[in-house]
Amino acid sequence: MNKHKPIVIGHRGAAGEAPENTLASFALAMKQGAEGIELDVHITKDGEIVVCHDAALDRTTNGSGLICEHSWSELKSLDAGSWFSEAFTGERLPLLREVFDLLPRGLFINVEVKHAYEGRMEKALLAFLRESSRMEDVVISSFDHKVIRRIKQAEPGAKVGLLYAANLIDHAAYAEQMGVDVFSLHPHHHCIEQEDVAAAVSSGLAVYPYTVNDLADYHRMIASGVSGIITDYPARLRELLNL
Ligand code: G3P
Ligand code: MG
Repeated sequence: MNKHKPIVIGHRGAAGEAPENTLASFALAMKQGAEGIELDVHITKDGEIVVCHDAALDRTTNGSGLICEHSWSELKSLDAGSWFSEAFTGERLPLLREVFDLLPRGLFINVEVKHAYEGRMEKALLAFLRESSRMEDVVISSFDHKVIRRIKQAEPGAKVGLLYAANLIDHAAYAEQMGVDVFSLHPHHHCIEQEDVAAAVSSGLAVYPYTVNDLADYHRMIASGVSGIITDYPARLRELLNL
């Protein structure tokens, strides 16, 4: 096995064992030894940043419709736990601020922007991060690379990452052509090979593949020298890395 040990990044917290993107899920990921957390964000009608994967409430809460069509006061009491298991009944949709309050300073936080919301998300997120004084802890990623470029242009102090699920010819060169300083690559784990990781790392990029849950895939990603692994099962990966 490669001697380099990647950091363990809990996907939506510990989404394999707790309702994704809830405070319970983030707390469990930390308890299991995650050194970083990945979470997804959307914005409410009144500009609050809510942590949720889907744009709509239906799959993971007892509400329905789009987050962006509701104000925070309409969302704050929704149940975001019982869809996963009765044991989590009463878990709520968290605001990004509440997740930051839970996570200790210095813990790596990967905020994935799901939609631009006509630029409102970028503005709200940067305002929040500036106020939090935790810019250093955070990497903002998105499948929307134009959002990523705009965020970096608006705030050079922000760290940004490119999310993608394409087997690019040259991963590092793609980041280079963004025209802004990219901190990290976040490829689907099927879309990156050892030589791509080596080239990216040697050009100064961190590499955080998602979402890696099986032992064989953990071994493959560790051997390829990635900087961190995004997983639904932080305890499983932690155990393997501790061997
Ligand atoms: O950020 C990595 C991963 O979360 C991207 O896909 O759909 O799980 O948000 P998704
Ligand atoms: Mg995500």
